[in-house]
This record gives sequence, C-alpha cells and structure tokens, in this order.
Amino acid sequence: MARIIGGYFTSHVPAIGGAIVRGDQEEPYWKPFFDGFPPVRDWLGAERPDVAVCFYNDHGLNFFLDKMPTFAVGAAHEYRNEDEGWGLPLFKSFSGHPDLSWHIIEQLVGDEFDVTTCQSMLVDHALSIPFELAYPKAKEWPLKLVPIAINTVQYPLPSAKRCLALGRAVHRALASWQGAEKIVVIGTGGLSHQLDGERAGFVNPEYDRFCMDSLAANPEAICVDSTKEIVRKSGSQGVEILNWIAARGALGEVPARETHRNYHIPISNTAAATMLLETV
Ligand code: DHB
Ligand code: FE
Repeated sequence: MARIIGGYFTSHVPAIGGAIVRGDQEEPYWKPFFDGFPPVRDWLGAERPDVAVCFYNDHGLNFFLDKMPTFAVGAAHEYRNEDEGWGLPLFKSFSGHPDLSWHIIEQLVGDEFDVTTCQSMLVDHALSIPFELAYPKAKEWPLKLVPIAINTVQYPLPSAKRCLALGRAVHRALASWQGAEKIVVIGTGGLSHQLDGERAGFVNPEYDRFCMDSLAANPEAICVDSTKEIVRKSGSQGVEILNWIAARGALGEVPARETHRNYHIPISNTAAATMLLETV
C-alpha cells in the first residue's frame, strides 16, 4: 500500500521566482521567508517521497474564465511549466503518474466527486514555486506529480467543507492504491491576501493564525464559514486556503502532527506561510 508521509503547505507568490533567480534569499526583505524552508528540505530529503499529490489553483493559464472546472485532476505523462515569466526558467517539466491519477479519478467519481479529467495540463507558479522552494537547484524534479486544481478564481467557488471532503476522498483513493510509493501531499497558496479592488493589500494575521492553528487537529473549524465569509476574512485571493484544506483532507481524518511553521508579512501582497504536517 502507498504510504502518505505528510503534508507540505506553502504560499506560492510568483515574485519568489524572481528572488530565486536573482539569488536574493539572504536579502532582508526575503530572508524571513526563505528561512522557513530548510526544515522542508531536510524532511523531504530524509523521506524521499516518490510522488507529490498537489492541490493548487490555476491562475488563468490552463483554465480561463470561459471554461472553469471546480475540481480538475491531471492524468498526463508530463506537465509543462508555462509560468507567466517572473524569472524562473521554464525548462523543468513535471513527470506525471498517469496510473495513479486514473486510480484517483476513478475512486473520486465512484465517491460522487464529478471531477474534470485532464490528459493534458499546463502548470503555473502555484505549482512550480513550491517545488523550487523545496528542491532548490534541482536539475529535474525527483518525484512524480499528480496535480489537482481547485477553482479559487471564478465564482461560484466550492465550499471549504466540500474541499475537505474532496481531500478525504483522495485520501481513501490513496489508501486503496496497491503501489508501494511514498506520497507527499502539497497544498499551495494563501494565506491572507487581496491583489485588487478596494481592499488591495489586505491581510489578516488573526485569521491566518486561526487557520494554521486549526489545520493539524481540527480542520473542520475552518470549514464552518461559507466561501464568501472566508473571502471577507482572508481577502479575495486568500481564499486559496481552500487548497490547504483539501490537502489537509488528503492526510486522512486522524489528527496530524504539526512539525514546522513559518509565517511572515509581507511577501509581495501576501501574508506568507509555510507548514509541515506529519501523519502520526
Ligand atoms: C501574489 C500572490 C498570489 O497567490 C498570486 O497567485 C499572485 C500574486 C502576490 O502577493 O503578489
Ligand atoms: Fe495565487
């Protein structure tokens, strides 16, 4: 049976790519953020997962407003990084794991999650930045990818409760997979931020702390709010916390153990956070 080693959660601000390319990791602006990553690298280096199941949101690169799946699962052999050009080189494609993707898709549809299946899929900064942070200077990615995109962009958005349930269904699918792979679950985006409109620049450290405090032992607490209420509390792009909630769900219903947390304001417009949860 596949083994889920735990979850890696991080913000995915595209400007991080520019900082990596310029080598700004030790600059005063960036250091408090990059300092959150040695424990992530140490853990992944020690555990060496074979597959990443990554919950993220597409930012208009792969799905645009004319066609917006609520939940989309990649089932491709390869996912090209077609990021918007904040400086990171684009040559590193992600290798897929189509057999595992199709198993997850079949289990999800059997579980009444009517997901969109994507046999071709491009990925953007929401996926590439977390990998660059976890595996800096890697010539190629040392693990395969199953990407799961959640609509956090075009209304109506799925509820937090539904995203937690989706994650839990992915957990059941992984538990019934016969392969021996080690799997890391990744959730990207957030925490509070709003990029446009009257509240541009809005962050909410109190709500972020509540989310981080709830994630390991009581993710249901975050799911009490409607999506609109989450937008009110975390900003219109802070709703990317839905990706974190789904990823938490994929760790299963048992409490997880928080082994690392870093939180820093601001990175660009975002209250940036990084966490590790291990399965007990
Ligand atoms: C920023 C944050 C995001 O999550 C994103 O997708 C794009 C930009 C930012 O803070 O600049
Ligand atoms: Fe984003």
